[in-house]
Amino acid sequence: MPNLAVEKLVISHFRSHRALEISCDPRPVAIYGANGVGKTNILEAVSLLSPGRGVRRATAAEMVRKPENLGWKIRAVVRLHDRICEIETWSESGSARQVRIDDKAVTQIALGKIVRVLWLIPAMDRLWTDAAEGRRRFLDRMTLSFDSDHAENILIYEKAMRERNRLLKDQVRDEHWYKVIESQMAKAAVKIRISREETLKLVDAAQERSETLFPSANLKLINAEDVEIPTNSQDLAELLSQYRKRDIMAGRTLVGPHRDDLYGVFSAKNIPAKDSSTGEQKALLISLILANCRALKKQTGITPLLLLDEVSAHLDAGRRSTLYDEICEVGAQAWLTGTGPELFDDLGNRAQQLLAVDEGGKTSVVFQ
Ligand SMILES: Nc1ncnc2c1ncn2[C@@H]1O[C@H](COP(=O)(O)OP(=O)(O)O)[C@@H](O)[C@H]1O
Ligand SMILES: [Mg+2]
Repeated sequence: MPNLAVEKLVISHFRSHRALEISCDPRPVAIYGANGVGKTNILEAVSLLSPGRGVRRATAAEMVRKPENLGWKIRAVVRLHDRICEIETWSESGSARQVRIDDKAVTQIALGKIVRVLWLIPAMDRLWTDAAEGRRRFLDRMTLSFDSDHAENILIYEKAMRERNRLLKDQVRDEHWYKVIESQMAKAAVKIRISREETLKLVDAAQERSETLFPSANLKLINAEDVEIPTNSQDLAELLSQYRKRDIMAGRTLVGPHRDDLYGVFSAKNIPAKDSSTGEQKALLISLILANCRALKKQTGITPLLLLDEVSAHLDAGRRSTLYDEICEVGAQAWLTGTGPELFDDLGNRAQQLLAVDEGGKTSVVFQ
């Protein structure tokens, strides 16, 4: 039995869905249906039960159902251990999204204390070869599952950095202004880095202990700026002040956790993940997500929600069946999508299967 599960999901005027209601049990949810019926949109709605912009990194305005343009709302009943809570998140005509938990207005950050969610979507197929930003986000999503303060630390850091960047652009040279901001940045930066490093250690350990068809990766936190980033905030603040001249020339902050990157090596072959085959790269991500699940369960007793968009179709039968076994063994409520029901045959009644159909703009979901 998962310790975290969505029991009910009600979506209105969100993307292609005018009105959709899904009641589910703690088992994985396998959603199948033709292209364009709104399967990924359902996963996107689930991803918004956690802080941030969701699987597509879209703005609230982009998620508003067109052509009505009314605004959208997602309501979910979520069970975490024995606690049942109601999460509501919505946007009025595309303005910033708001959140309510058990009828109380809260910030998005509060969602991270309840819903842990990890995802794999087709756009992440190029994660290992694309820019560092995507890998950093992937690492932060894993980190947030262990450390619910991580999102807030990043917000604090980024806000202070924006202020510092403004000073740099205006070529301000007043020592005092920088010092206050750099001290704030350094305090948050140290927490961010410690949390990221700790996450890598936990995930690494959880990979080592398991032998599966999914290959393991050696992971390392690296930084675009080739200097040792101090692990205490005074030294980091000092480093920022040393960088000031260079940063004024660049017009932005060059050193800090905003330039961290995740370096992965395919262990079995000792080949960097970016040079591995497309299939191997995807398998590495699956392996990391599963390791994250095991580590989180061990650490906190919580199994995160998994959103695996179109993952099943790209695995051979053996790996697909291993993936399902692993999901069921760790006991996570995974939300899986695919075009046909045969992709989920191996799950059998270990999952609830949903057929998504689009009835002229009113997408409906049929339980099998
Ligand atoms: N804001 C929006 N309003 C209305 N429809 C949208 C919006 N955004 C995306 N769509 C529609 O949603 C559909 C895609 O849904 P998606 O969940 O990606 O389908 P799939 O089932 O293939 O995963 C497309 O038909 C797209 O036009
Ligand atoms: Mg899709």
